[in-house]
Amino acid sequence: MKLSIIVAASLNHAIGKNNQMLWNLPEDMRFFKNTTWGLPLIMGRKTFEALGNKPLPGRFNIVISRRPGYKAGNPEVQEADSLFQAIDLAKKMDAKEAFIGGGGQIYKESLLLCDTIYMTRVFATLEGDAFFPVIPQDVFQMTYSKKVPADEKHAYAMEFQTWTKIKSIPEHSV
Ligand SMILES: NC(=O)c1ccc[n+]([C@@H]2O[C@H](COP(=O)([O-])OP(=O)(O)OC[C@H]3O[C@@H](n4cnc5c(N)ncnc54)[C@H](OP(=O)(O)O)[C@@H]3O)[C@@H](O)[C@H]2O)c1
Repeated sequence: MKLSIIVAASLNHAIGKNNQMLWNLPEDMRFFKNTTWGLPLIMGRKTFEALGNKPLPGRFNIVISRRPGYKAGNPEVQEADSLFQAIDLAKKMDAKEAFIGGGGQIYKESLLLCDTIYMTRVFATLEGDAFFPVIPQDVFQMTYSKKVPADEKHAYAMEFQTWTKIKSIPEHSV
């Protein structure tokens, strides 16, 4: 199973503030939906709360929390007590690809575990309290990019980037 990160981050790497998104960019939402549709989507407990404690439809939502006995409160959501348990649950779904959908803590923990990063770079410098780590360019290489200009529905220009792992990292060093 391929493990991929999907994220939108500003030029200064901000991804959220006060447990909310920093923008409303329909083209990016469409990309997120199309890319993750029908596949496992792993997220941290705070990101799930930012979604109003509701699973994203059409995806196998897996929520990670360290809280003993944590329940997401929805039968469609699977709970995991670690990132590794979440990845194991995704593997059991026999999907060809699973996604890490944030937030900041989960991205940081999974960066070196993933094979691909789908990064929407938002061309703005914004205040945030959750961030995406700097992508190590000795481990990942940008293999695709497409710029989308700002327009009446998009306050900021964006670039859809795909980063592919070029160097394998031994699991014990992650
Ligand atoms: N721009 C984007 O693409 C994007 C995508 C997603 C989210 N976001 C934003 O990111 C922000 C949330 O990010 P965040 O860093 O604050 O929180 P987060 O990563 O969504 O969730 C953090 C929580 O996940 C659990 N957790 C983390 N590591 C764990 C581990 N190894 N094992 C078990 N549980 C673990 C803990 O839950 P417990 O405290 O319950 O133990 C922790 O408090 C929001 O502003 C959201 O809007 C942005």
